Amino acid sequence: MTHRFCQTVAQPPSAVRKSSPAQPRAAVPRTRCRQGLSYLLIVLVFGAAAVAQETELPPALTEYMGRTIARTMSFHGADWLTRKTRQAEENTALMMKALHVKPGDVVCDLGCGNGYHTLRLAGAVMPGGWVYGSDIQPEMLQMLNDRADAAGVTNLTPVLGTVVDPRLPAASCDLILLVDVYHEFDRPVHMLAAIRRALKPAGRVVLVEFRAEDESVPIKPLHKMSRAQMMKEMTANGFKLVESFDKLPWQHMMFFQRDDAPPNEAK
Ligand SMILES: C[S@@+](CC[C@H](N)C(=O)[O-])C[C@H]1O[C@@H](n2cnc3c(N)ncnc32)[C@H](O)[C@@H]1O
Repeated sequence: MTHRFCQTVAQPPSAVRKSSPAQPRAAVPRTRCRQGLSYLLIVLVFGAAAVAQETELPPALTEYMGRTIARTMSFHGADWLTRKTRQAEENTALMMKALHVKPGDVVCDLGCGNGYHTLRLAGAVMPGGWVYGSDIQPEMLQMLNDRADAAGVTNLTPVLGTVVDPRLPAASCDLILLVDVYHEFDRPVHMLAAIRRALKPAGRVVLVEFRAEDESVPIKPLHKMSRAQMMKEMTANGFKLVESFDKLPWQHMMFFQRDDAPPNEAK
């Protein structure tokens, strides 16, 4: 089944069915739209909204706390995210295991791209769980939608976020995963504040970033981050480190909670 973007739907909590999780303001519905409704129209609508919003946005940063911010990876390069060698290079299966996601969890894959991790998360939270895939590029979300259709995944909401807001329901997520994404945020303070709002009180945010300290990791320096830099930026924005996983071949994997999270409730 092929899905098309329908329209942005702002559903107040009262309109949400009890059996489904809260729907974010920019959920991309995964129900069949009228066949004639074109993808182009939706891109134009989103584009116009983005232009209007752009005028109200805080200025994009090029540097943050001594780090140069990387440019957004374009959807034109999305094939790289689903390359055949990715499992061997990044051990993505081990990363998934280390997340300790369980059935019933509500999870967001933030900066989901074409959904490499999103689809795996959707399986891991079944039965009863839900996954949001949020990204700022509608083309990435279209690819995610198509891949979800092909895989028969139904517990997933694609969400068109903005550069300051992933547009997730407040206090909704047990876990927010960012793989190779955080270093691209050009308004990191706004994004981290929005992430704080979207987490449940004991929810976790997980940064997976290529190790800047390791020259043998074959990734451009701009797309890597050091552990010290992540600590600096996360603690400055109200997060505390609760766990590190150091067994991935190329990446740091660092788990944070709000620093006002209830104690002993991680995992
Ligand atoms: C290198 S890709 C990683 C995709 C995916 N996480 C993966 O590992 O396969 C980075 C993604 O982050 C998205 N991105 C960048 N800034 C973002 C923001 N402020 N909010 C949401 N997504 C963002 C980009 O559009 C892109 O799809």
